[in-house]
Amino acid sequence: MASEVTPPLELEHDLTQHGPTGRPMPAFPEPEPLASHGPARIIAMCNQKGGVGKTTTTINLGAALAEAGRRVLLVDFDPQGALSVGLGVPTNTLEITIYDLLVGRGHEITEIIQRTSVPGLDVAPANIDLSAAEVQLVGEVAREQILSRVLRPVVDEYDVILIDCQPSLGLLTVNALTAAHGVIIPLETEYFAMRGVALLVETIDKITDRLNPGLTVDGILATMYDGRTLHSREVVGSVVDHFGDKVFHTVISRTVKFPDATLAAEPITTYATGHSGANAYRQLARELIARGGAP
Ligand SMILES: Nc1ncnc2c1ncn2[C@@H]1O[C@H](COP(=O)(O)OP(=O)(O)OP(=O)(O)O)[C@@H](O)[C@H]1O
Ligand SMILES: [Mg+2]
Repeated sequence: MASEVTPPLELEHDLTQHGPTGRPMPAFPEPEPLASHGPARIIAMCNQKGGVGKTTTTINLGAALAEAGRRVLLVDFDPQGALSVGLGVPTNTLEITIYDLLVGRGHEITEIIQRTSVPGLDVAPANIDLSAAEVQLVGEVAREQILSRVLRPVVDEYDVILIDCQPSLGLLTVNALTAAHGVIIPLETEYFAMRGVALLVETIDKITDRLNPGLTVDGILATMYDGRTLHSREVVGSVVDHFGDKVFHTVISRTVKFPDATLAAEPITTYATGHSGANAYRQLARELIARGGAP
């Protein structure tokens, strides 16, 4: 994919006639129910920039896919444990986490998976212990493939596995990208959104080349969009100019309902089920399915 772009950029899209990304908005059909489940398509939620909506998107896209009848596993792959906390898992009392699986203490992933309040949505939690993994795994054989091995026993149980990456391009993220079939890149809708994306794309290209030839970018998701500002619309326009059809038509608006839902330890789809933010993630789920990014 292409290199970085420098803002500010021109607004070339007719936003009154089109969707927020400036392109005609397709209708995404209600997904068909699945006759059988698994094997899972694995998707890494990835951007080394912090606070762009990775965890929020993992939780809410996961919940929306579960609402559509998909069996979904969310993997917390960030030592901050925000995904686990956001789903009501008390992280500091966990005895076994994804960390123990990575460093090979004889546990299986089935021992750590927990149900959430949403039917069909499970979580493999993490906590601060995971911060030691990066250093500990450096000397391991096939150190990039460890997560892939950890997930293998449950791949047939789920339709989609979403991995919430930490804001770095270190060994944990490389493991996520090696285990994944696809990557979703959330971008915060602000002028410097694309700073660092070139490096991320370069990393994805290297992993495709050396470790995981099947890896594809499923889509780029504009988050924290404010349609009232020219600024937000310009940024989305420039992201579309740069990445074209890779950009999801669905855009996630900025609303305090997201942090509110996190505090309530629930996805927005149940916390504020009729809210536009909940509907945006439902639409993203339909768009992802329509693109073939999820069954
Ligand atoms: N669409 C939105 N509107 C308003 N606030 C949002 C939105 N999406 C996420 N947030 C809030 O922004 C903050 C960062 O979001 P989130 O934790 O999802 O980002 P992240 O990319 O996972 O961050 P990190 O890199 O630290 O893991 C959180 O407080 C979250 O509640
Ligand atoms: Mg996060």
